[in-house]
Amino acid sequence: MAQGHSASDESQGPLDEVPEEGLRKVRRWCVIIAVGGFLFGFDTGVISGALLFIKTDFSLSPFEQGSVVSILLLGALAGALGVGRISEPLGRRKALGLQGVVFLVGTAIAVFATGYWMLVIARFILGLAVGAASATVPVYLSEVAPTAIRGRMLTLNQLLITVGILVAYFTNLAFSAIEGWREMIGVGAIPAFVLLAGALWFLPESPEWQLTHGREDEARKFFASISDEETADRVIAERRHGAQGEQDSSSAQASSSGQDSSSGDEGPDWRVLLAARVRPALIVGLTLAAIQQFGGINTIIYYAPSIIQSTGLSASNAIFYSIAIGVINLVMTIVANRLIDRSGRRKLLIVSLSGMTVMLALLGLSFVVGWSPVISLVFMVIYIAAFAVGLGPIFWTLVGEIFPSDARSYGSGVSTAVNWGSNFFVSLVFLSIANAIGQGQTFWIFAVVCAFGLWFIGRYVPETKDRDFEEVDAALLKRFHRDPETGEKAKSGQR
Ligand code: BGC
Repeated sequence: MAQGHSASDESQGPLDEVPEEGLRKVRRWCVIIAVGGFLFGFDTGVISGALLFIKTDFSLSPFEQGSVVSILLLGALAGALGVGRISEPLGRRKALGLQGVVFLVGTAIAVFATGYWMLVIARFILGLAVGAASATVPVYLSEVAPTAIRGRMLTLNQLLITVGILVAYFTNLAFSAIEGWREMIGVGAIPAFVLLAGALWFLPESPEWQLTHGREDEARKFFASISDEETADRVIAERRHGAQGEQDSSSAQASSSGQDSSSGDEGPDWRVLLAARVRPALIVGLTLAAIQQFGGINTIIYYAPSIIQSTGLSASNAIFYSIAIGVINLVMTIVANRLIDRSGRRKLLIVSLSGMTVMLALLGLSFVVGWSPVISLVFMVIYIAAFAVGLGPIFWTLVGEIFPSDARSYGSGVSTAVNWGSNFFVSLVFLSIANAIGQGQTFWIFAVVCAFGLWFIGRYVPETKDRDFEEVDAALLKRFHRDPETGEKAKSGQR
């Protein structure tokens, strides 16, 4: 949490003295917030099994089947883009509650769908909720978690995404005997209700949101509830001091650029993203969002069974392989969750992308040369493990960490939207490209993307571990050789 410490200060901010009891509270809140991640995983995972029965019930053509799957990605793109408009004026808590309602509505329409179009509409509505939640959850988590456990709390999001995917596979397994696609989708109502109930009765509003909306008293109450009155007073005083400095420099900037991105108590609007000092965070957020998808992860997650089948293994074991991949994904995400606040984000990212690059190169080779299917499978599993220990969770972690407070919900929204847009694009063209140039060659393209990602991280992504938001901001500006006050490009003499 940003507590107004100077960038040179090695300490982690006053709220790192939060007593164990306070931390326990924070952890409980974070698990509820991350149920938004669970729904992300569940709703993207459940359709593969449900579709097997929907397509016969509604006699869907291949195009119709594809659209039922991918319309969710388009909905998610729209949901992520629109989220700032909800989560800025309403606050994170109400925004999340509202998303719970949208999840419930989308699920109900899907469960009672009487035909193709109703299902498409339901999946689009679910997509809106998935997209909005995937942009809200990292922001909310990062704003309630004290610095020392922030990485861990943020990786809870990815942890619950992977749990959601896995639970979806098991749900599919459980209801496939009765061909119960409505039941499969209907299970999603339970976590949606938990999200709504959590927002209504259990979660506190984010103190960062309170502060950027002039509600100092409420923010103070939050800090006091996890530490004590004295610490809360100190934090607020330090924040007031920090905010004053920030205001001075941003009003100087706004008057020099003729912009006004803040609109009083309503909070900032999307134009805050145009400010020079937000640009490095935006470049990092958008680039990592694209790399996470163009590195090919969902071709393996969504198409693993058919890829495996094309290596010569039988298709009857498709669900078994999906579950195996889901388990590896989950286990390695737990490893990342344990490591992230100790070894830091950069180290894990570098290990992750190196592993992904090498595995993709080998996977491509195994297809081109025609090695045994078991070898391809091994490369695939190690590739998933490499993703899960770094790029998977840490992209979502950084989305919550890199943006300055006033740009956080909009910055997270556009990064998340680029992630969903890239996901949609890759899913759409993967099979055609693989048919045109060969599956092995397609994996080599993904390998090149991951190699580029490695270079990009090495050069532009700062370590955020143990840093409060202001320190993260300073580190980002430094990596981009920008002036710490204005965010403008520093003259070469200043570097
Ligand atoms: C990605 C999803 C992917 C999932 C797999 C997430 O971080 O954003 O696109 O399906 O990881 O675990």
